[in-house]
Amino acid sequence: MNAQKLIDTAKTLVAEGKGLLAMDESNPTCDKRFERLGIPQTVEARRAWRELIVTTPGLGESISGAILFDETIRQQKKDGTPFVTVLTDAGIIPGIKVDAGAKELAAHPGEKITEGLDGLRERLAQYSQMGARFAKWRAVIAPGDAIPSRGCIEANAHALALYAALCQEAGLVPIVEPEVLMDGDHTLERCRVITEEVLRTVFNQLYTQRVLLEGLILKPNMVLPGLTCPRQEGVDEVARATVRSLLWTVPAAVSGIAFLSGGQSAELSSARLNAMNAGFKSRLPWALTFSFSRAIQQPALELWRGEEANVLAAQKALYHRARCNSAARRGQYDAAMERA
Ligand code: 13P
Repeated sequence: MNAQKLIDTAKTLVAEGKGLLAMDESNPTCDKRFERLGIPQTVEARRAWRELIVTTPGLGESISGAILFDETIRQQKKDGTPFVTVLTDAGIIPGIKVDAGAKELAAHPGEKITEGLDGLRERLAQYSQMGARFAKWRAVIAPGDAIPSRGCIEANAHALALYAALCQEAGLVPIVEPEVLMDGDHTLERCRVITEEVLRTVFNQLYTQRVLLEGLILKPNMVLPGLTCPRQEGVDEVARATVRSLLWTVPAAVSGIAFLSGGQSAELSSARLNAMNAGFKSRLPWALTFSFSRAIQQPALELWRGEEANVLAAQKALYHRARCNSAARRGQYDAAMERA
């Protein structure tokens, strides 16, 4: 393991003004989003959508790394140029989702365990050969009546740590993503308690598995009320609660934290990230940035709708969201940017 190379990659991914673009939706997830907008659910439509994304002019000004899916890392532009080459030429580091999805956890109704450790060493070596320099693994924690259980939190934290150690052995920076879901009517306080327990357990496991903290990126949820909770705190309260939970649980050695959007609107995701950086940046030991999928892609996808004629408008929307989030990374986002 080349520790310095891992640290350099991690720091580049969370550099000032930069964040990550998650475009690693599995085929079923991507197809579901296409179906809602009447876009054909085919390999070619998925390829065309990803070509639109990676060829967006100026994307590299705000995006440091793009997380790809297994199908996508093997795909090319219409003219035959591999996506990995297009990204690298744009100054964007290619990454790869390597988990095999969340499956029912035995003896734990309503809870999931992320699979994909079998054969992972070999797959990481292949992805590294294809040009990936970082990887992602997502664990899902659902708040509910009497859940999450210790069994679910510990099993997922253990898998995340084994994955992270294998990534570093292969020279890839692991993105460690334990996501506490927004679905449900739980309060912000309940999300805070669960998030802190999850992060504490994850870092315990990372430590036990000898993972180099400087050479990883944490991808957590923000601390939020559930989507159907009657009380929805304002942007500043969310920012304060999230920063507090991270300060209590994430070691200062970690290079960066890049949030998932998790179903928040594009504007709210930017505003909340911005409030954290604008209000607390000088007091934080790690960089705070974004690793959004829906909050960057969705407005552009709704404009594209699978039509060649809409490509430029969709790319403009994608570029705009990337810029807004870059500003939020600096603590310089303003809602007026949305109207500009
Ligand atoms: P969202 O930003 O849409 O939550 O996606 C982030 C991600 O990569 C989920 O694993």
